[in-house]
Amino acid sequence: MPLETIAVIGSGIMGRGIAYAAAAGGFRTILHDVAADALERALTHIRRDLDEGVSRGKLTAAEAAAALERLVPEPEMGAAAAEADFVIEAVPEDMALKLRTFARLDERCPEPVVLATNTSGLSITEIAAATRRPGRVVGMHFFNPVPRMKLVEIVKALDTSADTVGLTQEVARRMGKETVVVRESAGFITSRVNAMIGNEAFLMLQEGLASAEDIDKALKLGLNHPMGPFELVDLVGLDTRLAVLEHMHRSLGEKYRPAPLLVQYVKAGRLGRKAGRGVYDYGGRG
Ligand SMILES: NC(=O)c1ccc[n+]([C@@H]2O[C@H](COP(=O)([O-])OP(=O)(O)OC[C@H]3O[C@@H](n4cnc5c(N)ncnc54)[C@H](O)[C@@H]3O)[C@@H](O)[C@H]2O)c1
Repeated sequence: MPLETIAVIGSGIMGRGIAYAAAAGGFRTILHDVAADALERALTHIRRDLDEGVSRGKLTAAEAAAALERLVPEPEMGAAAAEADFVIEAVPEDMALKLRTFARLDERCPEPVVLATNTSGLSITEIAAATRRPGRVVGMHFFNPVPRMKLVEIVKALDTSADTVGLTQEVARRMGKETVVVRESAGFITSRVNAMIGNEAFLMLQEGLASAEDIDKALKLGLNHPMGPFELVDLVGLDTRLAVLEHMHRSLGEKYRPAPLLVQYVKAGRLGRKAGRGVYDYGGRG
């Protein structure tokens, strides 16, 4: 079956980035969202990202115009599903919503179509069980901002077939991405390592080994990390990081127990930039 048309379900932060990469990669791209204003906003963002891509020399003005031509906003999910050769879901991280969405996609998409989910942490095996094609369901974990981030983690659920993994690798490659393949497990590769580094940094701060500034400086200048672990967690949100660690602790064991200082900061409302204060103080503003 030729891979020509991709449907992206959900046009928020991730969906619009995925649609950008699909359209720029040469796919006819149908972008669906339940909210008309979200779809409108996504198109504005994608136009801006394409202009930025042109100014960064990533694509020519003619290629950007062609990408925009290939992009079709679609308010009806059934219509998007019926035309797609490959579907990438990016609706909010809510299991009940993902299960409903996959059951509907399964009804409407022709049988060989792969249904990929961009979930950061929900069980893809459970999502696949809402369909009659668990072998054709796979995780496709993109990174924010999608137009700039090179990696896609391809996540194999219990029944994901080798053929599905192969097709997903091909789609990602045509979108200009590099891939890694990982079995379903809390945090996949990237979030698991990242959460552990962040947690270790909190343990060190709690033990009074060094200041937050020096821990950040050490990782940036000594280990070449683009951001220090505290700068990063302030950006991600301490509550989000705590939720990831709690999930890993529940499913992977004691090694992943969240540092007590992180728990305390979250209890104090020090959630990061968005709260005006996290590990660092942003003067009450995000
Ligand atoms: N934000 C990130 O950094 C990031 C990174 C990797 C993965 N993810 C994952 O990607 C997914 C989407 O996250 P996001 O940050 O883009 O969320 P978001 O809230 O920005 O966007 C979700 C979009 O889905 C739409 N939507 C809601 N219900 C829908 C439905 N039934 N059908 C179609 N569209 C619907 C909403 O209107 C919204 O526009 C989540 O599973 C999240 O865990 C997020």
